[in-house]
Amino acid sequence: MLPSIRSAITGAAKYHPEKIVTNQDLSQSVETSDEWIQTRTGIKERRQVKKGQAASDLAVLAIEKVLKKTQTNVLDIDLIIVGTVTPDMMFPSTACVIQNKIGAKNAWGFDLSAACSGFLFSLGTADQFIRSGRSKKALVVGVDVMSSIIDPQDRNTCVLFGDGAGVVLLEPLPDGLQLGILDFIHHIDGSGGELLCMPGGGSLNPTTPETIEKKMHVVHQEGKQVFKFAVGEMARVSEEILERNGFKPEDVTLFVPHQANLRIIESCQKKLGLPNEKVMVNIDKFANTTSATIPSCLAMAAKEGRIKKGDLVLLASFGAGFTWGATLLRWAY
Ligand code: UT7
Repeated sequence: MLPSIRSAITGAAKYHPEKIVTNQDLSQSVETSDEWIQTRTGIKERRQVKKGQAASDLAVLAIEKVLKKTQTNVLDIDLIIVGTVTPDMMFPSTACVIQNKIGAKNAWGFDLSAACSGFLFSLGTADQFIRSGRSKKALVVGVDVMSSIIDPQDRNTCVLFGDGAGVVLLEPLPDGLQLGILDFIHHIDGSGGELLCMPGGGSLNPTTPETIEKKMHVVHQEGKQVFKFAVGEMARVSEEILERNGFKPEDVTLFVPHQANLRIIESCQKKLGLPNEKVMVNIDKFANTTSATIPSCLAMAAKEGRIKKGDLVLLASFGAGFTWGATLLRWAY
């Protein structure tokens, strides 16, 4: 039986820290060049937090904007889900820190770890709480401070990532309106775990002087292998979700892919046969902000008028784990 309510994004906002780090800046500290970074990744610059600024701080700045835009009373928020791999600390969860900072006294919530798919997995999870009637106003956050887990001396990774936050407000709408989240598909495949990971600091490798010496507390990536999986799976899952909902790529108003590499985005775009104006890109300005890429793209697209009420929007992600997925929705405002 079809559910009588759907969940819909009724507001979106983003926050990126003010400090800009250009490719030129990075070429002062590692052997790289603006030309290499731009041609291999599409990245021109990224943002970086100031000392002491944590994931919760970025998230709160985005949340304040979305609450204001949607004229939402923070006391009406009943659920906070935070997709992140760079929580303020191992525990308490960043959801608890955020709940306290914004004064969402009637909310519960948790962090969700799915790396670059963190936002999509969080959105799908919140969707289930809204559809079941257990949540009426959920904040779904994607936030990462990648500069906190990157080795600034490793040119394989330090050029790729940035810091940022995005958030959406998710609310119930009557199913008959045909707006909101239509479907999602999520996948994990742990066999790819070692290709993109941070091995230190957990229960397997608790922090010791030796783990620090071995640089186990920073991101390690086998870029080429991850690239291959990302290109194949993101396109496949996008085609699958369109097909099983009776849509063709040309029905999509905006494709919002995870922003890891412009070449990955363009390859998916080509497989789906979409023109440039139907593909959201902000990797040039913000690099890969992990969980924050998709919600920040949504906030930008809505602000720039690239998506309007009723438009079909396709979201797709791929990240460490491996984790990947797609979400199909009709924009609701
Ligand atoms: O968001 C989560 C999922 N992550 C991804 O989707 C990332 C997927 N991977 C990628 O985006 C790409 O693989 C990278 C951008 C990470 C690397 O691009 P690539 O075209 O696969 O380059 P590569 O790793 O094969 O490296 C090519 C060359 C190497 O030199 P040799 O061995 O050919 O002499 C690297 O050492 O480029 C070198 N290289 C660099 N040169 C200048 C690697 N990083 C840099 C750099 N500057 N920053």
